[in-house]
Formats: sequence, structure tokens, C-alpha cells
Amino acid sequence: YPSLTHPSVPLNSSTHHLHFCCDITFLCFLGTSHQGGYSHEAVVYALQVCGIRHIDTAKRYGCESFLSKAIKESGVKREDLWITTKLWHSDYGYENTKQACLESCKQLGVEYLDLYLVHWPDAQVPGKSNREVRAETWRAMEELYERGICRSIGVSNFLINHLEQLKEDCQITPHVNQVEYHPFHRPQELVEYCRSRNIIFEGYCPLAKGEALSHPDIIQLAKKYGKTPAQICIRWSIQNGIVTIPKSTKPERIQENCEVFDFSLAEDDVSIINGMHDGRHVSWDPTPVV
Ligand SMILES: NC(=O)c1ccc[n+]([C@@H]2O[C@H](COP(=O)([O-])OP(=O)(O)OC[C@H]3O[C@@H](n4cnc5c(N)ncnc54)[C@H](OP(=O)(O)O)[C@@H]3O)[C@@H](O)[C@H]2O)c1
Repeated sequence: YPSLTHPSVPLNSSTHHLHFCCDITFLCFLGTSHQGGYSHEAVVYALQVCGIRHIDTAKRYGCESFLSKAIKESGVKREDLWITTKLWHSDYGYENTKQACLESCKQLGVEYLDLYLVHWPDAQVPGKSNREVRAETWRAMEELYERGICRSIGVSNFLINHLEQLKEDCQITPHVNQVEYHPFHRPQELVEYCRSRNIIFEGYCPLAKGEALSHPDIIQLAKKYGKTPAQICIRWSIQNGIVTIPKSTKPERIQENCEVFDFSLAEDDVSIINGMHDGRHVSWDPTPVV
């Protein structure tokens, strides 16, 4: 499982483990281009010019087939890419999960996934508990992993109780948990739990969907380091050992978000940002999901 940046492996600047924007459904859902959208130009630019090799998407975002086109156009070889996609809850269950994975591969134009994630802990299957459906689903994920269709498998938005149940019900420990992580939301207990079980913690919404960029402390740190607020947030995630996936639809911002390997935040400044945690979610909150 070497290709996804692990907290103990230094990030290097030639292969950025960052992220393209892919949430076209969020555009439709929220009706504002600020919140999402898909830009073919930006994805091709990220691959060809910025050297980005980590693509994080999901069936839910509705752009797997667009990405297939952008990847082909970029000329970057499949084996040089890290492609993550996610299983949406309408496809949970043993047979559906396997089928959905193959369909995502088809949409993305690939024969295997580097990482496949169970998107959300709530299953919403009438007559079955979430725990039961998550376990059935995870057994299919294990099979996809054993067959080599998914080089690694993981979960997203899972809290400690969800992970503890999965441990009792299934065999393979998730390789990754992708969870909201930004200056206002730093779930340290979950980070430490994941580390203790060798589950890589991947943080999403590292800019708090842009909300963190206007915080006075972030602006002050940006001035101090001669960097932008987005670069300060991304660097902070990296220095906390978090694999992070900032998103932008704009080529110049994608480039900016990559330029985070030529400076370090002093420990005191990391602590200032650590202290901004107030627990708010800018995405969804899995706490009520049993
Ligand atoms: N697993 C999950 O349940 C889950 C949930 C939510 C998100 N995610 C993943 O995490 C990714 C990132 O999350 P996110 O997009 O919600 O939030 P984000 O990365 O924290 O913020 C994205 C927002 O910041 C803006 N932005 C990006 N770079 C910027 C820069 N350098 N300067 C100023 N503004 C900048 C973007 O606008 P422009 O596009 O206009 O630049 C966009 O509005 C998503 O694409 C998604 O794949 C996963």
C-alpha cells in the first residue's frame, strides 16, 4: 500500500497527492458554482502541468465518466495514477457493492481502483440495521480487494463506534478512513484511534469549503509566511500527518494548492491553528448514525 501518502512518509513536490474537483452533484444540489462543479480544463491542467497524480472522486459526484475522458486526454499512464472512488449507499449490500464497483471502473475507464471507499455509514435499508448492511457491504469490499479489483479498501465518515463494529463483524481492517478535517474540525481522538489501528486518516474539506480562508489567524499566518491562506491550511494538515484533498475548479488555484512543499509552519503556529477547532461541520455530520 505504498502509493498513498502515509503520515510517516514525507510528501514530495513532484507527485502531489492532492485532489481535483469532482463534485458535480454538489453543484446541482447547492446551485452555486462556488460549491462545486467540474472543470475538464482544470483536471487536464492538474495532471499535465501540476504533476498531480491522486484523483479522489465518487459515484455520488456524477463525474466518473468525465474523469475518464480527462485522464485519457492528459496522456498520464494509468499505473502512474492513484484513483479513489466511493460506493454510494444506494448500492450497499453484498451483490450490489460488487456490481457498483465494476460499474465505477467502467465509467472511469480503468480495470482496477487504487482505493474504493464506503462513502457514508448510514445504509437506509428498510428492515435491516445499518450495522448489518455495513458488514455485508464490507464483505463484498474484502472480496474486491482479494480479487485485485481494488488495490485497497476503506471507509469514509466512519466514527470510532462504526469502526469498532466493523472490527467485530469482518476480517480486513479498512486501509483508509476519509473524514472531514480542517482548522474548525480536527477530530483528534478519531485520528489517534485510526493511527493505533494502522488506518490512514485522509482529511476532506481542508479549506473548510473556503470558510477557513477568511479567518483572521489564518490571514495573519499567510502574511507571516508569505503564503496564501489556502496554502497555510493545506500545509497545516500535512504537518499534522493528514493526507489531504483540497479541491479547486481553477487551474491557478490548483497550482497554488500544490506549492506547499517549500516551507514549514513553526510548531507554535501549528498549535495556533490546532486551537481553532470548534467542532463545526461544513459537510455532513455522521454522529447521529448508529
Ligand atoms: N467523503 C466525503 O463524504 C466528502 C465530503 C465532502 C468533500 N469530500 C471531498 O473533499 C474534497 C474537498 O472538499 P470541498 O471541495 O468540499 O472543500 P475544500 O477543498 O475545503 O474547499 C473547496 C472550496 O475552496 C475553494 N478554493 C480551493 N482552492 C482555493 C484557493 N487556493 N484559494 C481560494 N479558494 C480556493 C474552491 O473554489 P473554486 O473551485 O472556485 O476554486 C471551493 O469553493 C471534495 O472535492 C470531495 O471530493 C468528501
